[in-house]
Amino acid sequence: MVEVTGGQACRRLVGKVAVVAGASTGIGRATALRLAGEGAQVLAGSPESEQAAIESLVAEIESAGGIARGAAFDATDDASVAALVDTAITAFGGIDVFHANFADLRVIFADTDAVSVTDDVLDRTLEVNLKGMMRATRHAVPRLLERGGGAMIYTSSSASIVGEPVRPCYAIAKAGVNALVRHVASRWGREGIRANAVLPGLVITPEKRSTMPSDLQQQVLASGRSTRLGEVEDIAAMVALLASRDGEWINGQSIAVDGGSTVS
Ligand SMILES: NC(=O)c1ccc[n+]([C@@H]2O[C@H](COP(=O)([O-])OP(=O)(O)OC[C@H]3O[C@@H](n4cnc5c(N)ncnc54)[C@H](O)[C@@H]3O)[C@@H](O)[C@H]2O)c1
Repeated sequence: MVEVTGGQACRRLVGKVAVVAGASTGIGRATALRLAGEGAQVLAGSPESEQAAIESLVAEIESAGGIARGAAFDATDDASVAALVDTAITAFGGIDVFHANFADLRVIFADTDAVSVTDDVLDRTLEVNLKGMMRATRHAVPRLLERGGGAMIYTSSSASIVGEPVRPCYAIAKAGVNALVRHVASRWGREGIRANAVLPGLVITPEKRSTMPSDLQQQVLASGRSTRLGEVEDIAAMVALLASRDGEWINGQSIAVDGGSTVS
């Protein structure tokens, strides 16, 4: 059985099918492991260039007794997002949970401020981080409805609710995701769809732990309201709750999981 990390072992998702879109690294990887650990059959998707990481994730889940498949998709390509959903249907017979987690986090380094940022940076950010979420919704919701409802879970960001002097395009895209969540919950809530966004604060992904200077990590810790920095398992745990029956009465919410850093 896959070890459930970051929380008490529980099996709330036995018999459920979950797609994690953007699963090769970081939060998505941890979420795929967590959902599989709770018994879900998981389809893990990321772009073609990241399939080696997806294969190793699938192998890790399977070697621990879980069930997973991998697939390539690109959030900027509508047909490819549709194919991701279709792959889950073919492999597992339907979907109950769709975690739209992907974001282009490379373009963010050029996301300077609203005066100097280029249209190319704005377009790329919206294309992946917001329009990609619309595409995921378009293709996943009808399939969730076929099973009598299910959970759409989007990874947004604390950047969507706080003012920052940098990365305006990223913040705008994530604020759009929060609005999308309210729409999806309002339009299909009575048909069994629950749509929620998780807003991580700064999460030290395994990749970031080695690259982020330790004085900066200490600075973030000092400015927060927690005894520690955020970890990918913190976000995975919230996604698992929202995916499960424990989250059945949570709908249309943008939930901060950030150690209290956005408390005003
Ligand atoms: N790590 C943090 O501090 C933090 C904070 C707030 C929000 N977030 C959000 O969490 C999510 C995951 O971020 P992460 O920190 O784990 O980073 P990450 O770079 O490890 O994960 C990004 C994922 O997006 C996928 N992706 C990127 N471009 C894609 C495309 N065009 N099509 C399909 N998939 C694509 C990648 O394959 C990868 O799996 C993102 O939505 C990010 O905005 C992260």
